[in-house]
Amino acid sequence: MPHPYVLLSAAVSLDGYLDDTGPERLLLSGPADFDRVDEVRASVDAILVGAGTIRADNPRLLVNSPGRRAARLAEGRAEYPLKVTVSGSGDLDPAARFWHTGGEKVLYTTDKGAERAHALGLAADVVPLGAELDWRRLLEHLHAERGVRRLMVEGGGTVHTQLLTEGLADELQLVLAPLFVGDPKAPRLFGPGSYQGGRLRMVETRPVGDVVLTRYEPTAPGTGPLPSAADHHWLALACELAAECPPSQTAFSVGAVVVAADGTELARGHSREGTDPVVHAEEAALAKVDPTDPRLVTATVYSSLEPCARRASRPAPCARLVLDAGVRRVVTAWREPDTFVAGADGSGVLAGGGATVVVLPEHEDRAKAPNGHLLGR
Ligand SMILES: NC(=O)c1ccc[n+]([C@@H]2O[C@H](COP(=O)([O-])OP(=O)(O)OC[C@H]3O[C@@H](n4cnc5c(N)ncnc54)[C@H](OP(=O)(O)O)[C@@H]3O)[C@@H](O)[C@H]2O)c1
Ligand SMILES: [Zn+2]
Repeated sequence: MPHPYVLLSAAVSLDGYLDDTGPERLLLSGPADFDRVDEVRASVDAILVGAGTIRADNPRLLVNSPGRRAARLAEGRAEYPLKVTVSGSGDLDPAARFWHTGGEKVLYTTDKGAERAHALGLAADVVPLGAELDWRRLLEHLHAERGVRRLMVEGGGTVHTQLLTEGLADELQLVLAPLFVGDPKAPRLFGPGSYQGGRLRMVETRPVGDVVLTRYEPTAPGTGPLPSAADHHWLALACELAAECPPSQTAFSVGAVVVAADGTELARGHSREGTDPVVHAEEAALAKVDPTDPRLVTATVYSSLEPCARRASRPAPCARLVLDAGVRRVVTAWREPDTFVAGADGSGVLAGGGATVVVLPEHEDRAKAPNGHLLGR
């Protein structure tokens, strides 16, 4: 089920704190950065904060610039982004500004929390998600029921930590403020947890007034059947590679990327690359990795089309090559049609060899695009 694009936004002190312990919210960034945040808010469909942030900061979470609000309206969007909060307890102050400013509001909570929220008469659409709050279900619901395609998350640390450790963040916009908090009782930006993968990819860094904004993208593949946000990034890259294949009337155009568990790209390839007129994408990519590389056993292969189960041009089909390389996780955009091989079942071969196959149909159109002439389109 599709999720919105999830953008985490936070400001942090040089010693890693989100706030101090005083009654007022600590202002970490300055006017130029508040204006930048306003611009990001104006660009999204929804803004989410945890209940802890509502209790601690009593924020409004508005688009403050009248020009940006007018531009949203002119584009046929709501004047203000949808405001979203999460609470297990449902214990929120009904007088908080969150409920009484801006546009529509929704509270995601547990079944018990919903009872409490209804008793308090919170001015929001209350959505119970069961006995516990499940972030994947929350994101699916926002996408399907609220049409949210871009979600900005403005904290606090508890929420940011969960979205990162569950591999659900597409982007982190971090502002580093030139000051120290120095109080161990103050809230930290990120708490302990099993963060997936190693280094993030830095996509931008720039000064904004006296703070520095850095944008990062997580790169770690998901685990088992659970897709991570980075799975979408890597599969999109495989689809881009598919578009680079020399066209053929007798074979599909496919792209493939091999990625280690820590998010390091090990190799990439595409069909008929270089001087080999019959090479397949997964075959070309795997041929570039040292077969003794210990990272292969926990790696993921991204292939724009399901790896083949049978082929005329070489003895070993790609599903077999993937298993022989030791790889046990494959992410793909679509299943192989019967165009060249009847009953091709690469996923069945992979599953039979103990590999997990994850299909992300959101990428199907892009994966099929360079194959339109073979699909009768
Ligand atoms: N510098 C910045 O950019 C920035 C931005 C935002 C916030 N902050 C600071 O961050 C601090 C608040 O952070 P925080 O970590 O305490 O709060 P938070 O992340 O805003 O909210 C945590 C609360 O959200 C609910 N929640 C989160 N995940 C849940 C789950 N999986 N299941 C059920 N409920 C869940 C719980 O609410 P219930 O307790 O109601 O169950 C939990 O107590 C404040 O000091 C604020 O000033 C700073
Ligand atoms: Zn193949």
